[in-house]
Amino acid sequence: LFAGESEFVKGVVAMDGLPPADRVEVCFAGRSNVGKSSLINALTGTKGLARASNTPGRTQEINYFTQGPDIYLVDLPGYGFANAPLPVVEKWQRLLKSYLSGRQTLRRAFVLIDFRHGIKAVDEEIMTLLDKAAVPFQVVLTKADKVKAWDHERTLAQVRQKLSPHPAAYPELVLTSSEKGEGISTLRSIIATLE
Ligand code: GTP
Ligand code: MG
Repeated sequence: LFAGESEFVKGVVAMDGLPPADRVEVCFAGRSNVGKSSLINALTGTKGLARASNTPGRTQEINYFTQGPDIYLVDLPGYGFANAPLPVVEKWQRLLKSYLSGRQTLRRAFVLIDFRHGIKAVDEEIMTLLDKAAVPFQVVLTKADKVKAWDHERTLAQVRQKLSPHPAAYPELVLTSSEKGEGISTLRSIIATLE
């Protein structure tokens, strides 16, 4: 199902630089440092494919990766706080929003939420943008390895409650840890069904 090599295709800095819209694509959106690039590395089983780091604002371009012959995995710059000059951040935020609302072949957006923090106002803003653009999105909770089991239900309840007003949201949540591998195969199967 989730077979085939993954390769870096290109980093895109403007909408006219997007590759031809000839494959299904899924993207990974979320606040800076939430674990988007790490999740792509875990999904593809390729360490260092997407550049991850502890500095918020590491990914500053829209990075395209292949997954087998039919799918693009798209790593997005984070939103919210970033350790980069404001004009630069503003430029990539505009690009991010244009991409999320204007990419025809975008089949599903995964909105990553740090399991320790839950859904914040900036996340809701992006979700509203996805609602308006009619892009189906699914919440992926990240860094599950950092949350004690007895805290799970409280955060899950907050997330479910915050998702309920969003028509484009899938109710099914995916719990992941890129560090421990939790939820990675579940996410792979979800992506494979979109082929
Ligand atoms: P930007 O590109 O800056 O928006 O960040 P990002 O969302 O791509 O985050 P990235 O994958 O670079 O990870 C940020 C930090 O979180 C890194 O130090 C990762 O090692 C760490 N991290 C990512 N996923 C996990 C996880 O599942 N568990 C733990 N414990 N740490 C993680
Ligand atoms: Mg990144």
